[in-house]
Amino acid sequence: MNPERKIGIIDTHDFDALLNSFPPPLYRHSHRVAIYSFIIAEHAIKFLRLCDLTGGKRFSEVVHLGSSCHDLGKLLLLDQDKEYKEHPSIGAYLLKDYKKDLIDEEELQTAVLETVNLHHEQPNGNGFPNKINSSEIPIHVGFCSVANALDHRLTKKDKDTCIDEILESIKRQAGTVFCEIAVECLISAWKCIVKRYGEWDLE
Ligand SMILES: [Fe+2]
Ligand SMILES: [Fe+2]
Repeated sequence: MNPERKIGIIDTHDFDALLNSFPPPLYRHSHRVAIYSFIIAEHAIKFLRLCDLTGGKRFSEVVHLGSSCHDLGKLLLLDQDKEYKEHPSIGAYLLKDYKKDLIDEEELQTAVLETVNLHHEQPNGNGFPNKINSSEIPIHVGFCSVANALDHRLTKKDKDTCIDEILESIKRQAGTVFCEIAVECLISAWKCIVKRYGEWDLE
């Protein structure tokens, strides 16, 4: 990305202020995705002991943080349609400046950046921007991706689609579009999501 684009559009050096500068729809989407992915990750830790798999005890914290800023790059798109596929890499580029505000350990900072950079990649290699496959997509990224898809489908204009159909459609894409473990955790954590986030604000 041209650094000139960055200068002038983002005029804050404070990470919280940056997040608060999101337009309201993007802010609410990011907030919901962060909550969904956090609950799914907590569930994974509790029932699948995923923290052992990832080698870190702060798995859900990383998932939450990465999800809260996963669409950061959209702030810098000059044309939301034409440049859409660039938003993950632009977001990761921008976030490098805020690394130290994000989280204390360098390894965890890297994991947050990966979440932003890779949240549209797919296990089958058909995602974007890099078209990498499951072997190169870290598991914490998969949690953000599935939570992102869930929010998009819940907020879709077509309100006739019920939640069971949404979950079924995500389930059918396990292993191809979404990480299988993340989908499994979403399905089993769904009741917790509804319980903890009972008052839906899907505007
Ligand atoms: Fe995105
Ligand atoms: Fe998103």
